[in-house]
Amino acid sequence: MRLFQKSVATPGILENVQPASWREHRFGLPKARWERLQGKDFWITGAGTGYGRCIALALAAAGSRVFISGRRIEKLRETVGEGAELGIDVRRCIAVPVDIKSEEDLTRAVRHIQLVTPSLYGLVNSAALPQPSETAFPLTGQSVAAWTDVLTTNVTGSWLTCKAAMPLLGNGEGFRVLFLSSFAGWASTPGFGPYNISKSAVNTLGASFAAECAMRYPEKDVQINVLVPGEARTEMNQGSMESPYAVVSMVLVLLSHPPGGPNGYFFNRDGQHLAFAYTPPYSQPLLSMH
Ligand SMILES: NC(=O)c1ccc[n+]([C@@H]2O[C@H](COP(=O)([O-])OP(=O)(O)OC[C@H]3O[C@@H](n4cnc5c(N)ncnc54)[C@H](OP(=O)(O)O)[C@@H]3O)[C@@H](O)[C@H]2O)c1
Repeated sequence: MRLFQKSVATPGILENVQPASWREHRFGLPKARWERLQGKDFWITGAGTGYGRCIALALAAAGSRVFISGRRIEKLRETVGEGAELGIDVRRCIAVPVDIKSEEDLTRAVRHIQLVTPSLYGLVNSAALPQPSETAFPLTGQSVAAWTDVLTTNVTGSWLTCKAAMPLLGNGEGFRVLFLSSFAGWASTPGFGPYNISKSAVNTLGASFAAECAMRYPEKDVQINVLVPGEARTEMNQGSMESPYAVVSMVLVLLSHPPGGPNGYFFNRDGQHLAFAYTPPYSQPLLSMH
């Protein structure tokens, strides 16, 4: 079944790398792109585990300062520990525990970040919940509580995080935002209805937020995009054997893009440009033109 359209691909994406060898492979980034990330400030949600942890540590390896968020402080500490084991300067990793469902928590987190920096260069929305296993037929049998948990975390939580981060993102010459979606956002797989709906909404949130920010900040270099991270072994997917570091290469390509890059587009972790709804695949190469 063809769930999405593919077109242009980004060459040089490395999905299978040893994170400990980051100095050698730079996750596939040319030196100049790697160096663009130096000294930048990013906020990563879901950074205590899985993809969020790998993205945060790769950014710190490149010399960015990362504010790492999740609800469990012990998981955020584990992220810092993993960074130290990888030889990354973890003084660049600052734990900011937050529940993205709570505006109060997010306000507190932003105040915490503002004590360190007046602006953020980027935000990566990786925090999410999977489909609960309560029932195989969630759209006909799931509790309202289970529906609300997934939709409020994956959709409302990502929106609230963006909204809370706006004063910091809007304070610089430009900013990057990434939403981690899923092919579930293009799918209608039975048993996963609420999660599919949440990811489809995340796709629309990403594209709509990109369009709104382009209009609100016409003078700024705004690049807000949606990335499908694919399968990897994380807390929410114990069935995969793939490393979550597989997503890092494409994430860094997008976050290090010079001014004039994509805004409101969809990408896969292997470098493919995707279509969603009325949005066609981004037509320019992401790496070779710079
Ligand atoms: N792994 C896959 O195969 C796969 C496939 C497709 C898409 N994805 C997407 O990739 C992204 C990352 O997921 P992952 O695979 O890395 O799974 P994961 O390890 O379960 O990470 C999800 C993170 O979200 C955090 N989180 C959940 N609710 C939160 C809340 N209310 N406030 C703040 N943080 C919250 C969790 O930390 P706390 O519990 O400590 O808050 C956790 O660290 C998600 O958007 C997911 O949908 C994953």
